[in-house]
Amino acid sequence: MEDNRYLTVALGKGRLAKQAMEIFENIGITCEEMKDKDSRKLIFVNEEYKMRFFLSKGPDVPTYVEYGAADIGIVGEDTILEEARNVYEVLDLGFGKCRMCVCGPKEAEELLKHQELIRVATKYPRIAKNYFYNRKDQTIDIIKLNGSIELAPIVGLSEVIVDIVETGSTLKENGLVVLEEICPLSARVIVNQVSMKMENDRITKIITAFKKELEK
Ligand code: PRP
Repeated sequence: MEDNRYLTVALGKGRLAKQAMEIFENIGITCEEMKDKDSRKLIFVNEEYKMRFFLSKGPDVPTYVEYGAADIGIVGEDTILEEARNVYEVLDLGFGKCRMCVCGPKEAEELLKHQELIRVATKYPRIAKNYFYNRKDQTIDIIKLNGSIELAPIVGLSEVIVDIVETGSTLKENGLVVLEEICPLSARVIVNQVSMKMENDRITKIITAFKKELEK
């Protein structure tokens, strides 16, 4: 592929994107116009490095990368596991650390021990199904929610939830606890499978610079 092709990076909106852009800046790839909080612009260009950056909803990042609309994506491991797209996962960025857990009121602990049919509310049906069916051999009813998952056991929508726990304060403030840990999570770099071959030099350079930066 010719050298003047833009390399496109998709970033999941929010804290991860900010931290990822700091790393790009530290390795010398800056994008000033992205810092303007009032801007409604969706895509930002660095002409010097022939790179484009855009922000999208986290779950859409692996989609852009699988289809090659973005060569590189930066997104949480939770999203990568849930979306299960055909992409290469190339680097653990080590930030955005949290845990995927089964949570609920303390009393729900018993329900997890006896393979009872329980309702599980979650934003992550694939991760929840995989955990209960394959690792615990427990049949469950999944109730898909889009946010404020902790509400579900409080108002009686489900017995437990599968959700991300970072500091644990949302659980604490709502009288819930971690019942079981599914897996640790952190931010990852993913790469389109064709881009990895066609743009190998440029992508490898970026990954190597990222690795060096993370070792500091
Ligand atoms: C996430 C997650 C938990 C919370 C955990 O929600 O779903 O609710 O953060 O963080 P903590 O352990 O530090 O309290 P998010 O803020 O992304 O919003 P959501 O409710 O829309 O999912």
